[in-house]
Amino acid sequence: MLEQAIGVIDSGVGGLTVAKEIMRQMPNEIIYYVGDTARCPYGPRPKHEVRKFTLQMAGFLMNRNIKMLVVACNTATAVVLEELKSFLPIPVIGVISPGSRAALKATENGKIGILGTIGTINSKAYVRELTLINHQVEVIQLACPKFVSIVESFEYQSAIAKRVVEETLQPIVGSGIDTLVLGCTHYPLLGPLIENVMGPNVKVISSGEETAQEVSAILQFQNMLNTTTTSPKHIFYTTGSPKLFKQIAYDWLNIKDIQVDIAHLAS
Ligand code: SIN
Repeated sequence: MLEQAIGVIDSGVGGLTVAKEIMRQMPNEIIYYVGDTARCPYGPRPKHEVRKFTLQMAGFLMNRNIKMLVVACNTATAVVLEELKSFLPIPVIGVISPGSRAALKATENGKIGILGTIGTINSKAYVRELTLINHQVEVIQLACPKFVSIVESFEYQSAIAKRVVEETLQPIVGSGIDTLVLGCTHYPLLGPLIENVMGPNVKVISSGEETAQEVSAILQFQNMLNTTTTSPKHIFYTTGSPKLFKQIAYDWLNIKDIQVDIAHLAS
């Protein structure tokens, strides 16, 4: 049990931002990661498709005997987290509760911005989660439909990325928020550009750190931590191009010799 992997799923490479934090906080743990790059983005897709694709990724990793599942995609978390929790025999967590908790800890003036995909913003999942814990917070949401494809195409440091980020964020610049949640796991790769546009008075929060803390707490509480000290052999699966996935994974995770295999997800 202890040496089983933690499963991490995402529509593409965005969940690597969560995987990176899990690796940093729990270096003994093995990660099996699935990125559904071929069908990314999930944000504009109807709920029934997001549900179907997410269940396929979860099934793929359950067949590889994972001990815990992290849904490292906000769009998928909003649609299917509760269902996965209801029938999988292992702990399952998403990224919306951890991201919300981190924002509530960070805000001083109670004005929180949320950036997300169209699916996440329309679901109002962050608004529900934040106001459930603190009904006094004011939440300003903004959909950023162009961000995911910039990240997936490995253009997140380009001049185009800079321009798109500047233009997209205009509606919330000067809105009075002191905390901004990157409500899509792809967005931390655009983090420096987002921070630059929002300025030093806005704390930019990504859910990775808090999500990894929750993973650690659950595994510790359930006595499921991997206590072996040999370096873990992570496996990354993609439904798209392993070459592009490897480039981004290498750039973001800075690990040599990444094993990237193709995932054939059941239809
Ligand atoms: C997407 O596939 O559109 C983004 C994934 C996310 O919402 O985190």
